[in-house]
Amino acid sequence: MSVTIYVPGDSGALALGADKVAKAIEKEISARGLDARIVRNGSRGMYWLEPMVEVATAAGRVAYGPVSVKDVASLFDAGLAAGGQHKLSLGDPEKLPFLAKQTRLTFARCGITDPLSLADYEAHGGLVGLRNAVAMAPADVVKQVTESGLRGRGGAGFPTGIKWKTVLDTPGEQKYIVCNADEGDSATFADRMIMEGDPFVLIEGMAIAGLATGATKGYVYIRSEYPHAIAAMTKAVEVAGKAGVLGKSVLGTSQGFDIEIRSGAGAYVCGEETSLLNSLEGKRGVVRAKPPLPAIEGLFGKPTVINNVISLASVPIVMDKGAQYYKDFGMGRSRGTIPIQIAGNVKHGGLFEVAFGLTLGEIVDEIGGGTRSGRPVKAVQVGGPLGAYFPRALFDTPFDYEAFAAKDGLIGHAGITVFDDSADMLKMARFAMEFCAIESCGKCTPCRIGSTRGVETLDKLKANIEPEKQLALVSDLCNTMKFGSLCALGGFTPYPVMSAINHFPEDFRPAAVAQAAE
Ligand SMILES: Cc1cc2nc3c(=O)[nH]c(=O)nc-3n(C[C@H](O)[C@H](O)[C@H](O)COP(=O)(O)O)c2cc1C
Ligand code: SF4
Repeated sequence: MSVTIYVPGDSGALALGADKVAKAIEKEISARGLDARIVRNGSRGMYWLEPMVEVATAAGRVAYGPVSVKDVASLFDAGLAAGGQHKLSLGDPEKLPFLAKQTRLTFARCGITDPLSLADYEAHGGLVGLRNAVAMAPADVVKQVTESGLRGRGGAGFPTGIKWKTVLDTPGEQKYIVCNADEGDSATFADRMIMEGDPFVLIEGMAIAGLATGATKGYVYIRSEYPHAIAAMTKAVEVAGKAGVLGKSVLGTSQGFDIEIRSGAGAYVCGEETSLLNSLEGKRGVVRAKPPLPAIEGLFGKPTVINNVISLASVPIVMDKGAQYYKDFGMGRSRGTIPIQIAGNVKHGGLFEVAFGLTLGEIVDEIGGGTRSGRPVKAVQVGGPLGAYFPRALFDTPFDYEAFAAKDGLIGHAGITVFDDSADMLKMARFAMEFCAIESCGKCTPCRIGSTRGVETLDKLKANIEPEKQLALVSDLCNTMKFGSLCALGGFTPYPVMSAINHFPEDFRPAAVAQAAE
């Protein structure tokens, strides 16, 4: 019987040498005359173990990792094809604590299936949600999504069903579904992982959104830095078109739905929804004033659903198992699961999908295993470059939209960056202002000018020039940016800056500053 060996084709695994490992395995298979095939699966999301090679045995999957080219021959000598023991043996990957503790709903297939095989997708529960949606009235699909409690995973946490209802209820001869795959936040990779590891789940989610709102055309705007995701999505759309999942008739219905893949323009602000729409229309990525909402006048002035990859990719499971099933996970108004991306100076970096409600401390210390450097954790930035820095004193905060907001923080796209005690928080505050200055679209003054003045002020603070005055000025600037900016780039930059100042005042005290300036 032919043996299947899985070597991830995911960008993270490729960066760690997965292509070279796959080639070495191929060579070994042919040199030994084995009846084996290689499947380039997605990553399971345990990046410290990548490239993680798996073999399908009669007793289930057996994993090895991290595998390098020099290990390949000895792995075959040890009987890799039959799951033999080796110093890199990890056993059943599902039993590894990092995976065993997860609740994988959105990422259920990621790392398991062949990402570009629709047959494999269906064999693992794919397309059930779309089939259910096809048999329902659009308003009932929207109702299911609303009742599931699913909120946008792109950052703002807006209820997905309510957005869809606005588009359904807005008349328009043409409506659009736009998938925001610009994924610009630091420490985030969930969108990329799903597009590379299970692209059909996003396609299915977009097709359901199309049926639910009357939109017949979809766009996926993928950041240009993601060539592998662009390639996987392009191929998957082609396969779905040939199979009748997409095209003039979705699964034999009278409604059509097509998807086009677009490469992003390479600016952080192009992830902001209205700027993204401008970019998709071929214009400069400048933020549009709201109203009108994109749901009413979006792409080319037409009613448009714009959702993050994970929001859309979570819809198939809702339509498969029902709103109540999804809603039963989570806490408060944060329902379902959230793929937390753990990065920075951390031992076990990777993707951890779990119901809302774990505390930040559990995520960092127990799941992430503390810092990679072995030094104490000093701060954790949650929610990308616009997210607040959390000190250990706030590690009891549960991962929940409202709980984070109550501590002047945000969940954003659920990326967390861990820093050890060598981090200089004044430097991090300056970085936040500098990032905003570089990435500002320039449309409004608080952000365009405020961020540049913010950098200058923090530089003066660092140079120990009237430090108390500079601190007061930064606080004032942040207030103006927070309440006077048109979008969240200028409006949220104060979060990392002020959290650094408030939670780590010792790094901003004249004595510390004077020392750093010496
Ligand atoms: C500066 C800026 C950058 C953003 N970048 C992204 C991004 O890369 N991906 C994303 O999904 N949302 C991003 N957003 C949020 C989007 O504007 C929007 O809220 C989101 O696409 C809506 O989808 P959701 O409701 O599914 O979250 C960004 C917002 C701002 C202000
Ligand atoms: S806050 Fe910044 S990025 Fe947003 S509209 Fe204003 S200038 Fe543009």
